[in-house]
Amino acid sequence: MPKTLLLPTDRATFALGQWLGERLAVGTVLLLTGDLGAGKTTLTKGIGRGLDIPDEIDSPTFTLINEYDSGRLPLYHVDLYRLAGAESDRLFLESYWEGIEYPPGIVAIEWAERLRYLPPEPLKINLSHHPEAGRQVTLTPASPTQTCLIEALTTDAILADEI
Ligand SMILES: Nc1ncnc2c1ncn2[C@@H]1O[C@H](COP(=O)(O)OP(=O)(O)OP(=O)(O)O)[C@@H](O)[C@H]1O
Ligand SMILES: [Mg+2]
Repeated sequence: MPKTLLLPTDRATFALGQWLGERLAVGTVLLLTGDLGAGKTTLTKGIGRGLDIPDEIDSPTFTLINEYDSGRLPLYHVDLYRLAGAESDRLFLESYWEGIEYPPGIVAIEWAERLRYLPPEPLKINLSHHPEAGRQVTLTPASPTQTCLIEALTTDAILADEI
C-alpha cells in the first residue's frame, strides 16, 4: 500500500530522509520522482545524515553520480535530469545495485522517471508541491520489508527523530 504524508517545511523533507537513512535495508534503490524543486535533493541530504555521512551531500546535476563511502553504508546519489532517452543506459547504474562492482549500499536516483530499465524491488518516492504549503510525498513499497517500514512512517515519527 502506498503511503502519502504532508511535509510542511524543508526540515520535514530532510527529517523523512534521515528517518529512512537510519532504517533502509542495504541494497535499497530509491526512485525519486517529482517536479523541479520538489525536494528530491533535500530528502537525499537527510538520507546522508541518517547514514552518518559527514560530507556535504550536493546535487549531482552536473556530475550525474556522487558516491559517498564514509558513512555506515555507501550512498550512491544519481541525478538523471540532464539525460535523455538511451543516455541513462550508458551510466550502467545496475553496477550500483548488483553488489559486484561496488559495495552494496543505498542508491538514490533523482529524476528516476528517465530510467529505461528498473532495478528489482525499488522503493518509489514521489514528491510534489502541495497547493497550500510545503510538499506532499507518496512512498510506494515493492517488498514486504519496505511495506513494514512504510507502515511505521508518520509525520510525528519523522519529526520526533529530528536532531
Ligand atoms: N517540504 C518542503 N516545504 C517547503 N520547501 C521545501 C520542502 N522540501 C524542500 N523544500 C525546498 O525546496 C527547494 C528545492 O529543493 P530540492 O533542491 O531538494 O529539490 P529537487 O527536487 O532536488 O530539485 P531539482 O528538480 O532541481 O533536482 C529547496 O529550497 C528546499 O529547501
Ligand atoms: Mg535535485
